[in-house]
Amino acid sequence: MKAIEIRNKYLEFFKKHGHTVIPSAPLIPENDPSVLFNTAGMQPLVPYLLGEKHPEGTRLVDYQKCVRTNDIDEVGDNRHLTYFEMLGNWSLGDYFKEESIQMSFDFLTKELHIPVEKLSVTCFKGDEDCGRDEVSAQCWKKAGIDEKHIYFYGKEDNWWIAGEEGPCGPDTEMFYDTGKEPCGPDCQPSCDCGKYVEIWNNVFMEYFKSKEGYTKLKQKNVDTGLGLERMAMLLQGKQTPFDTELFLPIMKKLEELQKIDIIESRRIIAEHLRSSMMIISDGGRPSNIDRGYVLRRLIRRMIRHLNKLQIDLNELSNLIEINVETLKEMYPELEKNKNQIKQVIEEERDKFVKTLEHGEKEFKKQINKLENTKIIPGEVVFKLYDTYGFPPEVTKDLASENGYKIDEKAFEDLFKKHQEKSRVGSEQKFKGGLAEQNEQTIAYHTATHLLNAALKQVIGKDAHQRGSNITTERMRFDFNCDHKLTEEEKKKVEDLVNKWIEEALPVTKQEMKKEEAIKSGAECMFIEKYPDIVTVYSIGEISKELCGGPHVNNTKELGKFKIKKEESSSSGIRRIKAILIK
Ligand code: SER
Repeated sequence: MKAIEIRNKYLEFFKKHGHTVIPSAPLIPENDPSVLFNTAGMQPLVPYLLGEKHPEGTRLVDYQKCVRTNDIDEVGDNRHLTYFEMLGNWSLGDYFKEESIQMSFDFLTKELHIPVEKLSVTCFKGDEDCGRDEVSAQCWKKAGIDEKHIYFYGKEDNWWIAGEEGPCGPDTEMFYDTGKEPCGPDCQPSCDCGKYVEIWNNVFMEYFKSKEGYTKLKQKNVDTGLGLERMAMLLQGKQTPFDTELFLPIMKKLEELQKIDIIESRRIIAEHLRSSMMIISDGGRPSNIDRGYVLRRLIRRMIRHLNKLQIDLNELSNLIEINVETLKEMYPELEKNKNQIKQVIEEERDKFVKTLEHGEKEFKKQINKLENTKIIPGEVVFKLYDTYGFPPEVTKDLASENGYKIDEKAFEDLFKKHQEKSRVGSEQKFKGGLAEQNEQTIAYHTATHLLNAALKQVIGKDAHQRGSNITTERMRFDFNCDHKLTEEEKKKVEDLVNKWIEEALPVTKQEMKKEEAIKSGAECMFIEKYPDIVTVYSIGEISKELCGGPHVNNTKELGKFKIKKEESSSSGIRRIKAILIK
């Protein structure tokens, strides 16, 4: 069965079971600077999993374009992909375990015709946070899964959360038995030998995890995810996704063009080209930071492997054409954006070719300086990388072509130090929920402090800030509160903030010892997060907070403050969305 048929069957099946088909969100999350790309179907649905009403109802189904880059260096083996499509169905406080499991069972066995003996399932075995999931196991048995094919595991296998905090819960996972010999007497779905392949994951999302621990969500949700490429591979009896119709045309073309035969390089080129095209089509552009940097890495890695296979880089345009042909039925946007995709990839290619030329010259200079050694020091490799953007793998190849070796250990140490520095840098950048600092976001940042102060006056001293998120369009603010705000409370908060804006209060900044700051009554969200010397921002007499800034100089710069929405974020936590009108 082709991937597109699996997708269509999936959407149809869930439509028949009362689900509304919703479109895939773009790969680049809207209004969420905290993640680089959508990595799961649930990501764009988080507000609805937390209780907000979805305009399309309580049963949803979609295919979601996803990019996961933590395994980028593994691509080239027989299974890793950076771009993939996730089919998903959701219950937003509607059905729960029984109906969800029955539908999954029916889809796998009746629509995809997978023989029931090929299926195994896993359930959560229980711990101090949440009990053993006997209900799911019973539902599987009732549906028709043999008891011997039901396994129980702990949080490491059967618990799902995106990152550290957020909606989460126990999951039940479905595995396909490839028919390979078991690797030993203990061979089970949890083992990595390749006999069992995970095909679908149903998360029973009824908890919210915060730094303080688990609380129950307002509603019980189901969030499921089925990886399309993997399912196509299994149903077609192929060993890797690169042998399916999604990759075959490009893989064949690369084989034709190559002068050197390296299968890993062909896979890397095919995979990274598809990912880059999808990202560019959804608006991504190469740069030196964040998601732009991921795209740059994908394109440059692809080019290095084209060079490795000695394929003329002018072929890129043809390779893009082939991928558009292969994928346009599934992603019509690729055809629409074809020219742009070509332009972006070719520009990046040209830049990279220049980088490689400069780097090579510098490499030669450096080895001429080396005396009595055939080992290139780590600092030289790092300098080539840091100053000339010359990838260490390329330095290594060049070194060996010239009879040299590189001091990998020394390079890695320097590289780690550098990574640590940029990690701290990006954490600082995100401090206070600020993604980019421009006029609007700075104004919203100051408004956040005013809102925090107003809530304390209207709701009470315990209305502490629990989180915030700012974009150029709006601010979002989470705080402790045990009730929905009344219209009167909302109005009071709004009026107070606007009064302070009109009073044109000065915003001032002071550095002091952390203890002193706390003693002086300055607000702060997570005391342990701050260094010993802290910055305190004060707004007139009404607000004093530990904060990295930046802020406006005077509240009169803010415009009019308006609350757009007040809603539950999770149990005991309310969320306000507000805007500034200039
Ligand atoms: N969120 C779960 C996953 O990514 C199910 O959709 O696997």
